Amino acid sequence: MTMSQVHVSTHPLVQHKLALLRDHRTDPKMFRELLREMALLLAYEATADLATDEVTVTTPMGQAKGQRLQERVGLVPILRAGLGMVEGIWNLMPNTEVWHIGLFRDEQTLEPVEYYNRLPVSPTVDVCLILDPMLATGGSAVATVDILKSWGAKRIKFAGVIAAPEGVQRLTDSHPDVPVYLAAIDERLNEVGYIVPGLGDAGDRLFGTG
Ligand code: PRP
Ligand code: URA
Repeated sequence: MTMSQVHVSTHPLVQHKLALLRDHRTDPKMFRELLREMALLLAYEATADLATDEVTVTTPMGQAKGQRLQERVGLVPILRAGLGMVEGIWNLMPNTEVWHIGLFRDEQTLEPVEYYNRLPVSPTVDVCLILDPMLATGGSAVATVDILKSWGAKRIKFAGVIAAPEGVQRLTDSHPDVPVYLAAIDERLNEVGYIVPGLGDAGDRLFGTG
């Protein structure tokens, strides 16, 4: 595992919200709010190395040097659960484009099946930030990076909330150039591909289904 590419947030706000998000008593309304807030905080960490240009602005008192973001960021939420991370990041970067990828896991093989792809013909952004709260076997994340690379994306990052060690390993082995931002790496995957202790099914808890 190229651990230098894996960033697990130690921020107290992230960790406080994570404990609430995991709690089985947290209802969908609260779950959505927590995931929105955590996505904002994780995106803050995931964008720490974006390139900037130097600019000069005129204040009421004179001239000040400042910086302006040079790179355009595109959010790529993996449906469905990744949708829960978009709005929080939009609060931070309101002009960010959003490109949806629909994948579900085949319950038998646990391999991802693509059912939706709304990418334009060629990349319109410099950095793609993949969003999916759960990195379990890693199949969905690896498939999404594969899709983005064949689309021509040059710089790709992954932001999730909880990962299994197996998922981190698979993603970093397959795509060592993709930095991974998380709130936790849990103990293991169970026999049906759920993260333990995890939080259960993120899509179901977000949308009140299941
Ligand atoms: C969940 C989750 C990830 C995927 C992770 O989605 O949101 O996309 O599983 O598992 P993996 O790392 O083993 O690929 P799911 O297939 O349950 O679809 P949903 O979000 O529509 O519920
Ligand atoms: N997807 C989820 O939503 N939860 C898991 O634990 C694993 C995959």
